[in-house]
Amino acid sequence: ETLILLYGGRSAEREVSVLSAESVMRAVNYDRFNVKTYFITKSGDFIKTQEFITLPATDEKLMTNDSVVWNDKIAPSAIYETDAVVFPVLHGPMGEDGSIQGFLEILKLAYVGPNILSASSTMDKLLAKHVFESVGVPQVPYVAAFADENQAEIAEEVVEKLQFPVFVKPANMGSSVGISKVEDLTELARALTEAYKYDNRVVIEQGVDAREIECAVLGNGGEISATLPGEVVKDVAFYDYNSKYIDNKIQMDIPAHIAPKLAEQIQTYAIKAYKAVNGAGLSRCDFFVTTDGRLYLNEINAIPGFTQWSMYPLLWENMGLSYSALIEKLVDLAKS
Ligand code: DAL
Ligand code: MG
Repeated sequence: ETLILLYGGRSAEREVSVLSAESVMRAVNYDRFNVKTYFITKSGDFIKTQEFITLPATDEKLMTNDSVVWNDKIAPSAIYETDAVVFPVLHGPMGEDGSIQGFLEILKLAYVGPNILSASSTMDKLLAKHVFESVGVPQVPYVAAFADENQAEIAEEVVEKLQFPVFVKPANMGSSVGISKVEDLTELARALTEAYKYDNRVVIEQGVDAREIECAVLGNGGEISATLPGEVVKDVAFYDYNSKYIDNKIQMDIPAHIAPKLAEQIQTYAIKAYKAVNGAGLSRCDFFVTTDGRLYLNEINAIPGFTQWSMYPLLWENMGLSYSALIEKLVDLAKS
């Protein structure tokens, strides 16, 4: 079988995509798959990169952001191959938001992970909140902000409904890009300007003193399963994109040390939210458990960081599903 990996991409999360794809290249079951890889540059060009029919040697340098041959562009549709399965190991806008999924639908290629609807609805933090609200999954209080609205009125609404600190997040971004923690109104104005660089729709969320508990979901349609949750253990208030995904500075507690009842509640909400967005393939559902015992769904990542040391695969490993078996399971789901 041919497995086509798409990696890199146009979003600010291209670096974690490269790391995830390289992990997949080094762990796929080569008895079953041959692997073709395509790198998507920052400007959106598709470049055909390596092909593997056997496991690359440990010291073999894989194509990365720095080592691709830039003059070798192809038409995106050149990735088409009968019966191949595509794994878009891409995060953020243009990878995890339904656009690449729509393109693959048009090409009639099976692909791993979210469909157009689950990708686009979970990528948009504002839309996701509306959907989660509609199925009764609890979330932190928030205010929606739009770039073309009166910013003074937005500030008033924040003062009325929320308490500082608050987090300011562009609606359409993944990871921690464009996000600020804000302690007062002056900082709020600055943070909004920064967030509007990425999207003219922004979410302002109540900051909570909370543990970050994550749950991995796998499956399609009626057969969906969720792992025991894990915890992102941190010793500072807010981890930025680099420390979380590139430098791998976070520590994980797998499984999380929480009461079995709470773990069960998290799994139930994770599956409920996943179904509500028409989840497909995989998702990592990120929760907050506050110091006063409240549970909130923070967000769903429809294509979560997928290196061998990322939370999503490690949560499944804890349930007895190895990284390479997980990749096979995802391919099976893509074909079903
Ligand atoms: N958006 C990043 C890759 C994650 O949540 O894992
Ligand atoms: Mg997250």
